[in-house]
Amino acid sequence: MARKIFNSPSFVKPTVVDVAPKLLGHDNWVFLDGKAHVDFRKGLNSLFTKQALECYLPGQDDVYNRYFKDFVAITKEAGGKPVPFMAMFREVMCAVSLRSFVGHYISDEAVKKIADDYYLITEALELVNFPIILPYTKTWYGKKAADMVLDEFAKCVAKSKVRMAAGGDVTCIMDAWVKSILESKRWREAGEEGIATNNLEKPVPLLRDFTDMEISQTLFTFLFASQDATSSAATWLFQIAAQRPDVLDRIREENIKARDGDAMAPVNMDQLESMKYTRAVVRELLRYRPPVLMVPYVAKKDFPISKDYTVPKGAMVIPTTYMALRDPEVYTNPDEFDPERYFSGDAEEKGAKNYLVFGLGPHYCIGQTYAQLNLALCIGKASMMLNWEHHPTPLSEEIKVFATIFPKDDCPLTFEERKN
Ligand code: HEM
Repeated sequence: MARKIFNSPSFVKPTVVDVAPKLLGHDNWVFLDGKAHVDFRKGLNSLFTKQALECYLPGQDDVYNRYFKDFVAITKEAGGKPVPFMAMFREVMCAVSLRSFVGHYISDEAVKKIADDYYLITEALELVNFPIILPYTKTWYGKKAADMVLDEFAKCVAKSKVRMAAGGDVTCIMDAWVKSILESKRWREAGEEGIATNNLEKPVPLLRDFTDMEISQTLFTFLFASQDATSSAATWLFQIAAQRPDVLDRIREENIKARDGDAMAPVNMDQLESMKYTRAVVRELLRYRPPVLMVPYVAKKDFPISKDYTVPKGAMVIPTTYMALRDPEVYTNPDEFDPERYFSGDAEEKGAKNYLVFGLGPHYCIGQTYAQLNLALCIGKASMMLNWEHHPTPLSEEIKVFATIFPKDDCPLTFEERKN
């Protein structure tokens, strides 16, 4: 049933709480539907190819190198006592996203400010469905934070346009997009001026011009879509890896081998892809603790969803990812965390139709490969640089929902530096 909803774009489209267009911009691409949405998305696909993702790796590496040192410092400052790490995971993931999306055009201070303030944006969206924004309410603070991010990103676009026009190399998603836009413009102008284009490669797809604010808004949707989901996954990943030393040992072994024992050595895409066990852990983690439990859609017209029921036009219809991911006919002991099912088992083939973690149909997650490789990079590096312990409380396995899912005790951990 969930698959049917995701895959019925002629009957349904995604819907959001009233405040979302105010935060993201009314004319944002994520609110497009049908052909207009498909066309816009085509222009973004090239930003997530293997070749493109490789360019963003050094920025990600850099952030982990720095934050993992902070993890150790936090434990030291707390006198070795456990500290709830959920907020810290949110900050690291925000910093990683920002480096991947807008590279080094943004200062460390701005990264820190956005990471801190992003919490206000998620809070503003906490199912608030109030049509106006009143001063000093959650939505007001959320809007202020969103405007600040949009302004910062627009400044980055201006800098990226200058650097890409001067032939600089691509270091982030923004560069990749700006470069494609400039190449398209060059091609079009050459055609218009009757200049031979045989020394130019025709860009596919040929992009139109985008304003700084349009690019900023689109990158903001990436941050918006990734921040809560990736933070949720990272929090559970660290909690579960600590609870399962057998799993963590195998991740570590695989990473040491792939990186010739040097935790600080930059990793490339082939190495990352070769780490099959680490990637199986991420895959299973996302099945076991799917960050996005529900995706709200709305019926554009009467939608005969089954023999006996037609969803009336205008009603919300909300596919959940959870049931498919716990289907006992596909996953033996579905409530057990078992990476083996994705490493040596048949979960990938048998559960091909069940893996709704990233949605399905025309709106499926554009960042899914990036997200999984980033989580593999994160836990792989951590396994080499850190030892950590989870300090369970009665709330550790209880789930709270803050846009995505988190352990109710915010994941108390202690870290120490690992001497290899
Ligand atoms: C573990 C991390 C992530 C999870 C679990 C996740 C999950 C999802 C889900 C369930 C959807 C809705 C799909 C649908 O309606 O069919 C979605 C959409 C989306 N995601 Fe992700 N996501 C993650 C990370 C990311 C990242 C890192 C990015 C950006 C680079 C991203 C960008 C997007 C965008 C732009 C959409 C909307 C696509 C559209 O409407 O065409 N996501 N994601």
